[in-house]
Amino acid sequence: MITVKDLKRYYGSGDMTVKALNGVSFEINKGEFVAIMGASGCGKTTLLRILALLDDATDGEYTIRGLKVSSLPEAERSYYRLTQVGYVFQDYALINEMTAAENVYILSMMEGKSKKESYKVALEALDKVGLKDKHDRIPDELSGGEKQRVAIARAIAKKPDIMFADEPCANLDTRNSEQVLEVFKDLNDNYGQTIVMVTHEPWHVKYVDRVITFQDGVLVSDEWVEEQ
Ligand SMILES: Nc1ncnc2c1ncn2[C@@H]1O[C@H](COP(=O)(O)OP(=O)(O)OP(=O)(O)O)[C@@H](O)[C@H]1O
Ligand SMILES: [Mg+2]
Repeated sequence: MITVKDLKRYYGSGDMTVKALNGVSFEINKGEFVAIMGASGCGKTTLLRILALLDDATDGEYTIRGLKVSSLPEAERSYYRLTQVGYVFQDYALINEMTAAENVYILSMMEGKSKKESYKVALEALDKVGLKDKHDRIPDELSGGEKQRVAIARAIAKKPDIMFADEPCANLDTRNSEQVLEVFKDLNDNYGQTIVMVTHEPWHVKYVDRVITFQDGVLVSDEWVEEQ
């Protein structure tokens, strides 16, 4: 589903060059739930942003479903990013003045769907994350975990090929983290959603199929997690 070949991302130039990714290669198959781990500064966010087409690589190749996205023209990259890629941020990135349903359906509206159709899609997505009954709450009226589940609903509403999450539980306590991870696991187990999640919490590993670990911009281990 995803093929990454010798991916590099350098910041700055000359003596000041930071090699955030220094030649990374791996494949992710459809339906996998993969954790990306490694110490702070090892290149996890850099990798995720490139895979989600939010940033460009310095060098290397990257394909999704055989499509060489690393060299698509910008207009096609934007279209792909908007319609096929789900991205969940550490800080939720919800709009405070909008209800949960509005936060979810704004993207479908932007894609040109009618308000009625968009609302229906939003409620379905909120139902999948267990928040249908809170569709008319604004973010301030939700817990951190609920906010993150709204952000996940927004990401799945467009039925993305692949969903990326960058430390989605970093601001959550254990109970809320568990609820968010259960939602990811349910999407993966029951809907076959491919998920790539950055985390630094060892206990999160029990929810995923595979753990890829980075160190200083290179991949140092890639292991399957035993079923528990
Ligand atoms: N825009 C930028 N300009 C210059 N250097 C950057 C930029 N973004 C990231 N870096 C550097 O690239 C390296 C990798 O950063 P990245 O954010 O990918 O790490 P990370 O693994 O996500 O870390 P954390 O666990 O702290 O989130 C770091 O050395 C960082 O300082
Ligand atoms: Mg990061």
